[in-house]
Amino acid sequence: MILYVGATGLLGRTAVQELCRRGKPVRCLVRQTSDTAPLPQHGLEIVRANLHDEKTLARVFNGVETVISSFATNIAHEKKVSVLWENDYEGNLRLIRQARAAGVRKFIFISYWGLAKFGNFEHGKIKKLVEDLLTVSGLDYTIFRVTTLATDMSLLLGTTLRTKGRAFLLMRPHEKIRPILLEDLAWCMADALENPKASCRIIEVAGEEEYDFRQLEQLFCTVFKKKVRFIYIPLPIAYGIAALIDALTLCAYNARGLVSAFTGGSTCDITEMKKVFAIQQGSFARYLENYFGSTNSPA
Ligand SMILES: NC(=O)c1ccc[n+]([C@@H]2O[C@H](COP(=O)([O-])OP(=O)(O)OC[C@H]3O[C@@H](n4cnc5c(N)ncnc54)[C@H](OP(=O)(O)O)[C@@H]3O)[C@@H](O)[C@H]2O)c1
Repeated sequence: MILYVGATGLLGRTAVQELCRRGKPVRCLVRQTSDTAPLPQHGLEIVRANLHDEKTLARVFNGVETVISSFATNIAHEKKVSVLWENDYEGNLRLIRQARAAGVRKFIFISYWGLAKFGNFEHGKIKKLVEDLLTVSGLDYTIFRVTTLATDMSLLLGTTLRTKGRAFLLMRPHEKIRPILLEDLAWCMADALENPKASCRIIEVAGEEEYDFRQLEQLFCTVFKKKVRFIYIPLPIAYGIAALIDALTLCAYNARGLVSAFTGGSTCDITEMKKVFAIQQGSFARYLENYFGSTNSPA
């Protein structure tokens, strides 16, 4: 049995679908408030439980061989640093402890690419600590360090560009991104269950196509068939505003850390990923076209 935590999220839904497609038994731990409508209606166990209640957690682990943790606090809705630590750090710590106690074989964890560049970003610090705990836990693990999910590019950036014609970016013109499609990441996660090359590994994963600031802008112009543009916010200005917010809120949101997370691009070498996973990845350009319903073929 696979215990999936974060199943109702964007990645979680896709990963659970992939696991079901492969005939894997999946139990989803969801919150009392989680909307489970987007999850497959058959072949899935859904347990509403509190991740932070160790007694109920022990029951949820009955018969579990593998844990997949892709849950995370949504920073668009909940920005307080203290909540991130309580939910993301404590939650994963509990999962790892319980996995050890229950004799779980494998733990798959979704982390970030570029943890070092995040500097003081709380989410990044938490991911790194959870990674460290997993690597010394005695469990078999696969940690996916993910660049940018393609959904963030379409849902957040693309929607703003389409409606307003412009969007602010902290990415400098020479910096690059490699968005990964949810389906491709989900495929790798399911493959990692039985792939010996993924055993006890931290693997950086990213999409096939890489874009710099201008190429990305051009791609969106092609998809929308109109001129749209990115506006680069110079870093001293971004950090200046963030420092002011931090001073006024006693660092409750760690705004400077957040700025550091959105700078420096989001790309990595996918050679290792390709050595571990025999995957034919999809095209981000085609994904965007399909998502926004354009018939134009991007260059
Ligand atoms: N977005 C990116 O570009 C990016 C890049 C690199 C890595 N990642 C990582 O990829 C993973 C998936 O991201 P995503 O965009 O798919 O996230 P998402 O859509 O925001 O989904 C988050 C999920 O976590 C669940 N969750 C949060 N707290 C929980 C708790 N206490 N108990 C149970 N479930 C809880 C949410 O449940 P509810 O439905 O109840 O809210 C939801 O299912 C995350 O670990 C994220 O850090 C994302």
